[in-house]
Formats: sequence, structure tokens, C-alpha cells
Amino acid sequence: MFQADRREFPSLASQLEVHPEEQDHPRLVEVPDPTRQDMQFPDIWLRDNCLCQDCFMPQTLSRLPQLWNNLDTSVRVLRQEVDVEQQVLYIEWSDGHFSQYPYSWLRERDFSKANRERYLSDFYRPEQQLWSGRDFEQIRRVFNYQELLTDDYELQKWLHQLAVFGVALVKEAPLQMDVLRHLCNRVGFMRRTTYGDEFSVRAQPGASNYAYLAAPLPLHTDMPYFEYLPGVTLLHTLEQSASPGGVNLLTDAFYVADILRERYPEQFRVLSQTPVDWADIGRDGDLQFHNIWRAPVINLDAEGRCVRINHSIPQRDSHFSVPLEHVRPWYEAMATFVRLAQEHSCSFKTTPGDVLTFNNLRLVHGRTGYDDTDRNVRHILGAFIDWDIVYSRLRVLRQANVLPQLTHP
Ligand code: OGA
Ligand code: ZN
Ligand code: ZN
Repeated sequence: MFQADRREFPSLASQLEVHPEEQDHPRLVEVPDPTRQDMQFPDIWLRDNCLCQDCFMPQTLSRLPQLWNNLDTSVRVLRQEVDVEQQVLYIEWSDGHFSQYPYSWLRERDFSKANRERYLSDFYRPEQQLWSGRDFEQIRRVFNYQELLTDDYELQKWLHQLAVFGVALVKEAPLQMDVLRHLCNRVGFMRRTTYGDEFSVRAQPGASNYAYLAAPLPLHTDMPYFEYLPGVTLLHTLEQSASPGGVNLLTDAFYVADILRERYPEQFRVLSQTPVDWADIGRDGDLQFHNIWRAPVINLDAEGRCVRINHSIPQRDSHFSVPLEHVRPWYEAMATFVRLAQEHSCSFKTTPGDVLTFNNLRLVHGRTGYDDTDRNVRHILGAFIDWDIVYSRLRVLRQANVLPQLTHP
């Protein structure tokens, strides 16, 4: 039986016949599109994504679960018709259901390789462009703090820059404690950690965290000892050391990982497959903590792409829970990684009012040592945002049509 919302097919000349042999795997529905290339969709996918009121709830923009109470994977197309004028595809299904799909909706979900690639790099996440420190001047972009707070176009450009290059500099922020909160709230909300919402980086006698010394802070990622680590680091310079030190160091570690993959494949394999124990033991205010996360330095996704770097010399545990014979090869590989990270780093010194923002999953950062006296103080405020929040903001801004499609230089 047809569903209650069943409607008759418009009688159109373009009715297509479905041949039984075409219904074997992968059972594709061919949709002619006079304005561009014809489209193809798996029949089961179309049935699953029916847009009628029994299958889809417009109010929540989500699929209703009834079909899945007992999914019939053998469901197939009985009859298919297209209304080229109205740009609608009509389908009558073997389970008695009737569906219609606007062409505009179908085109956005077209399975062609070109369309899938467009969706992934334009809308899902802008494609990353990797860089060496020697190219830093070219990829560097500066944004004005006030403009970021008031102009959605600037906000979108900042987040796009962060997504593509992993680093962006904000200038002319007031020397106030709430700057990072305002910036994070423009994106969504701050990510809290064991060091609180915001954290103060300054030389403190008896500091319990290595960063809170005037000593050089070698290249690292923040909080590798968290399974769910903060994605974006923001560092606001309130006071800068007048001594020659306190210089920022930055390296695109995905770029370094690619060099390793190409030139030292065995060392790349070791760094991407040897789990390392990252740890942080201490106290911040009233909160006492002992964090451990065990994961490789180079973390890959199912397609072999880098998704996360873990690296911090002070926060690597002396527990190394791997078989004995894995230890020396790891040190050999890590020595290469650290040497390359230094080789491809860039350096610059922020001034008060600067907010350095960067991808903490991808870049390693550090600073040179500095003199710290009563008259010569360095004070950096730090905070984090999660990538989920940043990407979500970018998509919302794009859909609001603040900007046409952003392209990179
Ligand atoms: C940190 C850090 C950078 C700086 O505290 O983790 O990277 O410039 N600080 O002090
Ligand atoms: Zn339906
Ligand atoms: Zn840091």
C-alpha cells in the first residue's frame, strides 16, 4: 500500500524504465540533468533519505528512524520519473513508499568525485596548506581585534586562515584580561582545562609547570596528555620582556611529518605507530591532577593523513609502555623529527596587544628564554577553543552568506 501522502506521478514523457538487471549491485538510480552531468545515486541511499513527512522532520532537519526499525535492504525502485521543468525526481518504491527529491537537493549530494571533493574541501573543512618556516612571511596574516569583534567577514577570514595555515596573528587588542574571552565568545565558547579557563604564563618562583619559568621552552604541543586536547591555542601578550629573549618559535609539524614520510619512511612509521606516554602531574589552585594519554607523536587517520601531533619534552612520561626493542628506534626517529622541526621553524617576537592563535593539533610552538626581573616582566595570557566550535562557526558564517566562497592566495 502507498503511504498517506501518496500522489500520482505527473504524466511526463520522461518516465524512465528500470531494468531488472540494473537492479543488481550497486543498484544505481540514474538522474538526467540537462544543465550538467547526469547524476547517480544508490537506490538504498535515496530510500533512506526520503524527504517526506514520514521520513524526515523539517523542524529538526533530521531523518526519522522508523525505516530502520526493520530496514529492508532489498527495497528497490518500481518506477522513476523526472519532471525536468520543475526539477523534481519522483520514485515509487517496492515497499509501497513514494518519494520526491528536488534537483537542488540532489545536486548538493551528487556522488561524483568532483562534487564529493568540493564538499569536503569547501564545506566540511577548508583544505590545509602546509608550510616551512622560511615561507612564514608569505602565509602570515594579521587581523585587527576590534574588527574581529564587530565584523563577521573579518571573523570568517580569521577562522579560514587558522584552518588553512594553522596560524593567524591578531593585533591591537587592549591590554585587558578579558580579550581572549571576547575572542572565544565570538567563535562560540572557551575550552576549559585543568589550568582553568584562561591561564597566565609568566615566570613564577617555584612554578609547578615548566612553561611558567623564564627558561627556554622548546617546541611542543599544548596538553598532549589529554585524549581530548584543546584544538586552538590563543596567546595574548600583555607584557613582553625587554630582554632579547621571549621570542616565539613556530613550526608546521604536519609539514615536518610529510618530509619524514618521504625521506625517512621507517622513522615515520615508528613515530606514527609507537605509543608514547604523555603526562602532567600537578596542581592548579585547588585542583590536583594526574593526566596521562598514551598515543604516538604522529597520529594518522584512516586515509593516512596527519590529524594530530603530540610532542612536549617536559610532559613525556618516564613510563614508556612499549616492548624493549621499540625504544631505541623511537629515539632515533624522534631525534630526526626534533631536528627537522627546528630546521623548519620560524621565529618572531610579539608585542603587547598581540594575540597569537594557532592550531595546537598541527603546529609545535615554543619560546626562547628571557631575563625576568621586577622591572622587566613578561606576561602572556593563554586560552583555548575547540576545532569543532571553530569549524561550526565557519560553516554558519558561510551559510549566512557573509562572504562568497573564500579562496586562499
Ligand atoms: C605555554 C607556551 C609560550 C610563551 O605556556 O605552553 O607555549 O610564549 N607559552 O610563553
Ligand atoms: Zn518518505
Ligand atoms: Zn605552549
